[in-house]
Amino acid sequence: MPFPVHRMRRNRASEPLRRLVRETQLSPDDFILPLFAVPGKGVRKAISSMPGNFQLSIDELVKECADSLKLGIGGVILFGIPDAKDEQASGAYADDGIVQQAVRAVKRELPKLLVITDVCNCEYTSHGHCGLVVDGEVQNDPTLEWLAKAAVSHARAGADIVAPSDMMDGRVAAMRKALDASGFTNTPILAYAAKYASVFYGPFREAAESTPQFGDRRSYQMDPANAREAMREIELDLEEGADMIMVKPAMPYLDIIRQARDRFDAPLGAYQVSGEFSMLMAAIQNGWLDRDRAILESLTSIRRAGADFMLTYFARDAARLLG
Ligand code: PBG
Repeated sequence: MPFPVHRMRRNRASEPLRRLVRETQLSPDDFILPLFAVPGKGVRKAISSMPGNFQLSIDELVKECADSLKLGIGGVILFGIPDAKDEQASGAYADDGIVQQAVRAVKRELPKLLVITDVCNCEYTSHGHCGLVVDGEVQNDPTLEWLAKAAVSHARAGADIVAPSDMMDGRVAAMRKALDASGFTNTPILAYAAKYASVFYGPFREAAESTPQFGDRRSYQMDPANAREAMREIELDLEEGADMIMVKPAMPYLDIIRQARDRFDAPLGAYQVSGEFSMLMAAIQNGWLDRDRAILESLTSIRRAGADFMLTYFARDAARLLG
């Protein structure tokens, strides 16, 4: 006889009770803040579609990082927007590239801050695709060389973790081999293992100036309709040597996060991407959603689905709310 013996509301009657039975916790340790580095000095250029986010010159970026460290967040992930782009994505793997310089500066000033680098070519190619383009097609195998060189250059600059987001086949193995050959046997690879061809990257592409000049990314990023395929992508990245895996985007793909959690024991990240952030911010700025609750509920949902850590543009706000 369920009711009236069982009353689910009993455990919800007060905040201390709710706290006792709460199944999911958030901690600043698990938040990674994405930051965008640009050349110059004293540059803080607002990204209009992502309120509160900026393209930052390295001096300004270091300040943001210092702030992040004080708030106790888990780390930062750096993206770069180079001065010049070309067909070969030269800026992606140059030792004096924008991200490489940014990593050096951050690790020099703030050695305790965990610095992840996004390894991709789309911010560095003139056409905005993530690899070498021949006859309008993104070439897989030649692109692996660029990615391997980029990973080594990031590690040499001091990156704690390198994170390939390109979705070429075989990139994790290529990067592992190159890192090991250069003496970086201890640099972990966080693979954007299940990365979907998502509309929710729109604001990021404004931020990173990486919109493809023709076509789209559907020949390399995953079809949003596929879940089993995501498990194969993750399995392959782990076999190739990925140390951690990621699902991206997060909120529209909570089922994928849950399946990955149930199936794999590797540390699992999820990326609450730019469009998820902008959507929430638009509603917050319109007064349609309460800011603090929207931030915490959205991150709680990602964590509840099974993510160990979250890349989120709300990292600092959420850390402040928890602190
Ligand atoms: C680079 C990359 C992208 C994002 C992270 N790394 C853009 C893309 O694949 O087009 C998106 C992140 C976001 O939307 O916040 N390939």
